[in-house]
Amino acid sequence: MPRDKVYIFDTTLRDGEQSAGVMMNPQEKLEIARNLERLGIDIIEAGFAASSPGDLDAVITIAKEIREPIIASLARAHPNDVDKAWEAVQHAKKPRIHVFLSSSDIQMMHMLRRSKDEVLEMAVSNVTRAKKYLDDVEFSPMDATRTEPEYLYDLLEAVIDAGATTVNIPDTVGYAIPSEFAKLLLDIQKNVKNIDKARLSVHCHNDLGLSVANSLAAVQAGARQVEGCINGLGERAGNAATEEFIMALATRKDYFGVTIDIDTTQLTRTSRLVSEITGFAVQNNKAIVGLNAFRHASGIHQDGILKEKSTYEIIDPTSVGLASNSLVLAKLSGRAGLRARLEELGYELSSEDLDLTFLAFKDLADKKREITDRDLEALMAEQRRVTQINNFQIVDVEIHTGSGKKPSATVTLTNTEGKEFTETCDGNGPVDAVCRAIANVAGIHPTLEEYSVRSITGELDAVGDVTVRLNHNDQLYSGRGADTDIILASAKAYTNALNRMLA
Ligand code: KIV
Ligand code: ZN
Repeated sequence: MPRDKVYIFDTTLRDGEQSAGVMMNPQEKLEIARNLERLGIDIIEAGFAASSPGDLDAVITIAKEIREPIIASLARAHPNDVDKAWEAVQHAKKPRIHVFLSSSDIQMMHMLRRSKDEVLEMAVSNVTRAKKYLDDVEFSPMDATRTEPEYLYDLLEAVIDAGATTVNIPDTVGYAIPSEFAKLLLDIQKNVKNIDKARLSVHCHNDLGLSVANSLAAVQAGARQVEGCINGLGERAGNAATEEFIMALATRKDYFGVTIDIDTTQLTRTSRLVSEITGFAVQNNKAIVGLNAFRHASGIHQDGILKEKSTYEIIDPTSVGLASNSLVLAKLSGRAGLRARLEELGYELSSEDLDLTFLAFKDLADKKREITDRDLEALMAEQRRVTQINNFQIVDVEIHTGSGKKPSATVTLTNTEGKEFTETCDGNGPVDAVCRAIANVAGIHPTLEEYSVRSITGELDAVGDVTVRLNHNDQLYSGRGADTDIILASAKAYTNALNRMLA
């Protein structure tokens, strides 16, 4: 292995799915995995096979389909988990089992209720078990940054002796500070005798907003695998954002002196796909993939950019996949033009899918003068949502509202057997009325925890992109919908969330 290459490990499909309110079905996970492969990700953690039949299914599907990257499944240090992980990743061309176990006193005492010796033995025996199945085994001592260093060294040495080929240092609770984390990495290299037999990896959470800084400090200190999630998804405040550390390593290659094998032009598209599928919008000022990441607002900055881009631009927007000219199609554009543009954006459509997409495109072009790449992406996301196996599909939405009038809505939905249901409801506003009517049809009444609408482009005829988050029995479900009519977009988003809940 080249010493200067940093391997990029993406765990959007595992730790990312641990974000409260994120749930992806196997088909959605496969679509994200295809994008991660196109991006050049070295290792995709496809799931946690033993955690649920759905996860097992998703890891198997990805292992069978995705050939270039290593496909990993997470496993607790339990024989059953290791066996399930193997059951899933055995189909991969390049399989990996990722065994983890708590190593900090606080977690060993309160969660595992095991002694240090017992924990070390569990780690070794399960790495050994994984090793019987395959060569590529990763081990993570969970909560490593709050683990007693001497014990951490012993544990790492023991699992490497047992055959772990990657040892990952998770800052599970996002507690580390960059200089301190770098020192821990250096100390590990100094004190773990056999460390040269394994690749050193890091996995940083963002509780103090330091996950990317910690990951980069670790690279400087010798880590050669970095783990993260697209858009910084993940447990609590999330993981290091994959797109951010990739662009830091690429942009400041002069400083880090390492290489990565990533096609950075796929970053924007991957980020948008993950956002669409998870229902987690990307904040406008998010580094690399936020709407404003390459926008210059002040006159002084604009003047500089016009004279010489490098005055205020450290990254060429096209290097992350932003089109230099985003205005593309309009009402008179034909099927061939639409297909060509979609292909440029990375969508490959069968002619049947193209027929459906073309109808949706014409419908949108009747309402909107210019169709940009963002509109096409929203349209493709909407197509994906309606062509999924859904419990309910919207047939019709009608609202009555006006000043001084109580808004009311009548919605008609069909179920999987094609049976139609119509309900009428009042509400505080038209969106409220529509959502109540849909909930009545579905016969479930979750609490609406979050509702947001964003315009995809800037004009008055823009497509509105609605995100909702519903709480049902303390479980969060998100949904998205896009339409030039924001009431309809809201109805789509609400129905999408209910469908995900019912699935
Ligand atoms: O944050 C963490 O410690 C993890 C491990 C399972 C690697 O996600
Ligand atoms: Zn994690």
